[in-house]
Amino acid sequence: MAKRKSVYVCQECGYRSPKWAGRCPECGAWGSLVEEVLREGRSNKNPRSSWVTPTVSKPLPIREVGKDREERFLTGIGEFDRVTGGGVVKGSVALVSGEPGIGKSTFLLQISSIFAKRGKALYVTAEESPQQVALRADRLGIDEDNLLILSENNLEEIEKHIKEIKPNFVVFDSIQTLYLPYIESSAGSVSQVRESTAFITNLCKGMGITAFIVGHVTKEGNIAGPKVLEHIVDAVFQFEGDRGYNFRIFKSLKNRFGSTGELAVFEMTDRGLREVPNPSEFFLSERPKGKPGSVIFAGIEGSRPILLEVQALVTRAIFTTPQRRAKGISPNRLSIIVAVLEKELGIPLRNFDVFVNVVGGVKVDEPAVDLPVATAIASSYYERPVKESIAVFGEIGLTGEVRRVKLEELRLREAEKNGLEVVSDVKRVEEIPEKLLV
Ligand code: TYD
Ligand code: MG
Repeated sequence: MAKRKSVYVCQECGYRSPKWAGRCPECGAWGSLVEEVLREGRSNKNPRSSWVTPTVSKPLPIREVGKDREERFLTGIGEFDRVTGGGVVKGSVALVSGEPGIGKSTFLLQISSIFAKRGKALYVTAEESPQQVALRADRLGIDEDNLLILSENNLEEIEKHIKEIKPNFVVFDSIQTLYLPYIESSAGSVSQVRESTAFITNLCKGMGITAFIVGHVTKEGNIAGPKVLEHIVDAVFQFEGDRGYNFRIFKSLKNRFGSTGELAVFEMTDRGLREVPNPSEFFLSERPKGKPGSVIFAGIEGSRPILLEVQALVTRAIFTTPQRRAKGISPNRLSIIVAVLEKELGIPLRNFDVFVNVVGGVKVDEPAVDLPVATAIASSYYERPVKESIAVFGEIGLTGEVRRVKLEELRLREAEKNGLEVVSDVKRVEEIPEKLLV
């Protein structure tokens, strides 16, 4: 009989403690410590050791670094290849996360079929039945001899199949439904998710298999399970998007073999996801012209400039505490902008509800979005539309000054390419009505 060992794991941050506590000493979350029973197994004697892939290190002259470049696999889907940093690196393990129903399984089935044209691809479905996957493949017009479907949840069984089939490419769908039998907690728990990811990583690295792991994210946008999961894999990609829209954003959150923050836009069709080569044009296509509360933001996502529409709605508050709602920007950023506008422009926003939305479900976290947000709010409050054919960007400081931001030249060029002019002489928020509004 194997020895039983209990450990309390924080479901928020993955902190492990031998004793229960009401509050996690690491991240401060209340009531998040859950008992998980470990049986002495292969990889959990020293959990940390299983996350690290051994490499032989040797100092190299800088000139010689990167000479033996990683071998990459190009899918031919230009936008996907760009976000992965110039193709998927052979033998790398990536996590693809996103809310349920956003299109992860569909997209990875499409990618598997491309891999299957040049090697052997295995799609492990632990969530849907093989029939469901086959039906989807039918719909997408996928019919590759070298694409195998395996319906199994137990990773030790999956390992046996992988060792026998020796595929070049494997999709694990999803990490929350896979389990290792020697960990007694249920599938989807922090221990299972972490150890399963480490198990998959070791297995695939050992065999030179390129792998994609599907992970669902919670409402707050965290990958269900601890953050440590992100450190185990080579790359983390995320699908974002609004259910109401039929396009999806594919973003690199981490990439050991490329830059992060890179973004691609895909359109959902009945034949699967299709790349959108000019996202700016796409995001602006439904923009209302001449309406107050809408402005174009010349933003940067990763290394690419992108034009986005920022909307605001300012209405008289119904309750004594006015509402502040932000979609696509952080609520903190909105609070600061509202406070600055109230003080410097003298708008009594304390009596008004303010709603802000970045159209298309893009999440912007660069400070350059401040001026567009302030402009949209002012435009809606004064009921004066923003001047036609202009784009704006700029960070707003606490005293109302508009600060310069990175990569301005790129933003200007992107605006110009789409027939817009960037107004860059706004130095303070007080100048917004005069310089930016009709
Ligand atoms: P699915 O790939 O199952 O999402 P996830 O794996 O992230 O939960 O996609 C959800 C639904 O959307 C599914 O019924 C198929 C449909 N869909 C399309 O019709 N076209 C598309 O291009 C995509 C991506 C999805
Ligand atoms: Mg799915």
